[in-house]
Amino acid sequence: MIVLDQENKVFTLHTQNTTYQMKADHNRVLLHTYYGPRIRGGDLSRLIQYADRGFSPNPSEAGDNRTYSLDTLPQEYSSCGVGDFRLPSIEFEPEDGSRLADLRCTGYELKKGKYSLPGLPAFFGGEEWETLVIHLIDSTCKVSLKLYYGVLERCDLITRAVQVVNHGSRPVQLRRCASLCLDFQRGDMDFITFNGCHAQERNLDRAPLRQGVQSVESVRGTSSHHHNPFVILCEHGADEDYGACYGAMLVYSGNFLAAAERTQLENNRLLLGINPYHFCWTLAPGAGFTAPEAALVCSPQGFGQMSRQFHRAIRENLIHDPCRGKRRPVLINNWEATEFRFDADKLVGIARAAAPLGIELFVMDDGWFGCRDSDRSGLGDWSVNEEKLPGGLGALVPKIENLGMSFGLWIEPEMVSEDSALYRAHPDWALQAPNRPFARGRSQLVLDFSRKEVRDHVYGSIKQVLASADIAYVKWDMNRSLTDVWSSALPADRQGELFHRFVLGVYDILERMRRDFPHILIEGCCGGGGRFDAGMLYYTPQIWCSDNTDAIDRLAIQYGTSFCYPVSAMGAHVSAVPNQQTGRCVPMETRGVVAMAGTFGYEMDLNHTTPEEKETIKRQVAFFKEHYELIQRGDYYRLADPFRDPFTAWEQVSPDRREALVSLVSHSNHAAAPFRTIRLKGLDPDAQYRVNGEEVWPGDVLMAAGWPMPMPAGDYRSMQLYLRAE
Ligand code: DGJ
Repeated sequence: MIVLDQENKVFTLHTQNTTYQMKADHNRVLLHTYYGPRIRGGDLSRLIQYADRGFSPNPSEAGDNRTYSLDTLPQEYSSCGVGDFRLPSIEFEPEDGSRLADLRCTGYELKKGKYSLPGLPAFFGGEEWETLVIHLIDSTCKVSLKLYYGVLERCDLITRAVQVVNHGSRPVQLRRCASLCLDFQRGDMDFITFNGCHAQERNLDRAPLRQGVQSVESVRGTSSHHHNPFVILCEHGADEDYGACYGAMLVYSGNFLAAAERTQLENNRLLLGINPYHFCWTLAPGAGFTAPEAALVCSPQGFGQMSRQFHRAIRENLIHDPCRGKRRPVLINNWEATEFRFDADKLVGIARAAAPLGIELFVMDDGWFGCRDSDRSGLGDWSVNEEKLPGGLGALVPKIENLGMSFGLWIEPEMVSEDSALYRAHPDWALQAPNRPFARGRSQLVLDFSRKEVRDHVYGSIKQVLASADIAYVKWDMNRSLTDVWSSALPADRQGELFHRFVLGVYDILERMRRDFPHILIEGCCGGGGRFDAGMLYYTPQIWCSDNTDAIDRLAIQYGTSFCYPVSAMGAHVSAVPNQQTGRCVPMETRGVVAMAGTFGYEMDLNHTTPEEKETIKRQVAFFKEHYELIQRGDYYRLADPFRDPFTAWEQVSPDRREALVSLVSHSNHAAAPFRTIRLKGLDPDAQYRVNGEEVWPGDVLMAAGWPMPMPAGDYRSMQLYLRAE
């Protein structure tokens, strides 16, 4: 609910459990007055303290009043160069070279429903949303801003976006345009970020904010394996169930900056948006720029509640899921089984072993097109390699369908190999700067997706393949970071637009694919989880979480990912042992339990499994299908922390609390291990739950006292408890 106090220019956004407030003060400066647990409201500007601070200047309207400074007041969207020395939200430069932005409020609009953003992914939904638009202007430069706020009460979600327009008669260079600025009038906070590298993504890092700026960012052209565009600020003591925490995510898949600043007043500012690194957008007279959407959830009760609210909102109001209301298929992918070494018989053999076990979708990974016999060639030539697959998809797909399975395939549209017909015909279509040798990544180059003719060509050839057979699923991969970011299609003074134009190009093709093939389930991938972000999720309902398929390493990766992203978004497969990335051997049962904390599938040649393993797989698949709704759409609770505890555990609870599934995985075992109990969460305290069809336990006992865990015999053991209320 959005409440406007027109007289005092106070804008209050209420969600189910939180309140967010701003006020345009007597100088029309937009102040941020409050964000936190839901309160009645009123004008909370009384919380703001005024004092004369040395070296904090006063705007001219303040006259002799030295207590009024942009440097000390909590700002809703911070200005630049006119008195606030904390992180600026925006920087622009007219032809005179000044870089000053003095933003004053000129009006507002209130609308029912949710705004959308041209060419950019954004949360969507109907009448349950409300939108507030606040108008700001720098009247000297004649640059106006619209600050968008979307409110989805039931999920405690507040979205934000910014549109900038140049109303002057000369061009203006936009050099920074954050999507979100959030000032806290408190300093006792920790900054939580999700970091790692290829094959070790989204490991949680938590540290108290120190004086100065702490940040994570990407300058790789993708959101990256290394840092995620989702961060949390929380009070020092916050944990899964206690304390205020604020999650902020960017609905964007390119370079980003998430910066938290602890100021001279020992309070905090959070800034989130496109990375100003190598960003400069020319605003011609009359032209505008739209910054990507950011989304906030505040939970007064710890991380668990925050995650569940993000999960709901992402599942229901961000992801365009062709399987909405249906079950997504359990898949088998041939990558780890064959890499590039396959032909049609090999693929059909893998599918044939999988079908009787209940697996429903066969995914042909990299290597099916052009001269793609290794990762050094073929990218860009999207036509079937008939030496490997005689008769093309027209021959292969019916063979898979005859086994009762549907068919999917892998693509990597943004890339080109030097050894390809596409590169030989259009060497200038790859990103590269004049008179410089270019860098290769996985021996490949990046196509200039800012150029429409490049996108049209690539999409045209992929569209032909997708239309040539019955294709139910596409895995969209991307296997290198961007370097040599220069486009022959842009003048020198507009090269700073290229990183963002590249991302807009990716979104354009994803949008076309969604429009032309609405039934196809697209799985995002970027060498695993190098582009695991809300921007991609808008188009690709699931994203391959990591190239690391080791079930024990995956515990940490999936744990970190779960802080923002739902189970139904996390691509997770059972793979063969010894694991290709770690050499570790984890029992099949455990590999299944861990993959079931994601989308669930297999990535191995099941012809090489024992009859017992096949029976286990059959049971796993049947169990997953039976409990699909609970696993994929249930409320998710983290019960143990893989970084601190000797085991990892999580739980899904149905919205009516009649069912729950608890999954536990022990790490390496030790002699004389202590007795352990695990306390469950989210159950109905008054209900009696039958556990795995056997004993009955009261909900309050399971939550307050816990469940005694049996001692694991051996390393990496797992267990699942299915609870049903009697
Ligand atoms: C990287 C992906 O993450 C893998 O799953 C696989 O598809 C390879 N690329 C194929 O080249």
